[in-house]
Amino acid sequence: MLTVVPRPVSVRAPAKVNLHLAVGDLRPDGYHELTTVFHALSLVDDVSVVAAETLSVSVYGDDAGIVPTDHTNLAWKAAELVAAHAGRRPAVAISIDKGIPVAGGMAGGSADAAATVVALDALWNLGLSREKIMDFAAQLGSDVPFSVAGGTAVGTGRGEKLLPVLSRNSFHWVLALAKGGLSTPAVYRELDRLRERGTPPRLGAPDELMQALASGDPARVGPLLGNDLQAAALSLEPGLRRTLRAGTEAGAIAGIVSGSGPTCAFLCASADHAVEVGAELSGAGVCRTVRVASGPVPGARVRGDG
Ligand code: C5P
Repeated sequence: MLTVVPRPVSVRAPAKVNLHLAVGDLRPDGYHELTTVFHALSLVDDVSVVAAETLSVSVYGDDAGIVPTDHTNLAWKAAELVAAHAGRRPAVAISIDKGIPVAGGMAGGSADAAATVVALDALWNLGLSREKIMDFAAQLGSDVPFSVAGGTAVGTGRGEKLLPVLSRNSFHWVLALAKGGLSTPAVYRELDRLRERGTPPRLGAPDELMQALASGDPARVGPLLGNDLQAAALSLEPGLRRTLRAGTEAGAIAGIVSGSGPTCAFLCASADHAVEVGAELSGAGVCRTVRVASGPVPGARVRGDG
């Protein structure tokens, strides 16, 4: 008897930086109400899935050693969720090639979950609607819907409700990757603690930033970048102040902590300028390594889909 084994499916999913991250109050469900502007960057994870006897996750790349390969990996959870919906066993080998820093505030785990949902839809020919994929994504984590959507988008709720943002041109970034990682819940908790003790400034609405993004001018966008979690990340990792200072001293237009950190993202005037700033910053000895990236880029997509 001839058995048809489906070919492996490979999906690429992007990192994100929050250009604007306004954190509201803690909700009864333990999440914070957000108004954020997500921006997808050309730092990517490639995730491939192939039929196998049992569910497994393997991870390759620089940070591979610190990524769990059991049921705590968000890609594993994504496979179980999609399989339960499809009424089949999650019998797939998931392999993740990591280009996105782990625990870096750039939605690396979310990218892998988003990629796994999109990949299994293709592998198993499920024909899932966009709405269903987004519904699975939101169940997996607050940033996962954006990892599916990509581009530049405003996120509200806990970050899962998305509206695309008009953004002209590509923007060029230097990313300073830190030696360790930060736990997202710990950074949110630290912000709550800082707010109990005082009144750290809160970002307003991102209206001006939206206009600047529509203009495509990085010099207008730079001063409008903002992140309410930055104070909390700096409180937990005071050394990041030095990294932020070094980035602007290296000539970046502006720098912020990416999401819950500890990666710092520096906006530059052009691709060449980003390479210059990156070289200068890597000589400053204030981070583990430096990457250059641009955005916006598309969300999780099957490779070879053009
Ligand atoms: O949704 P996700 O599992 O990625 O969130 C991880 C943690 O980050 C949450 O458990 C919560 O502590 C914190 N978080 C939050 N408010 C949000 C998103 C995440 O407090 N809007």
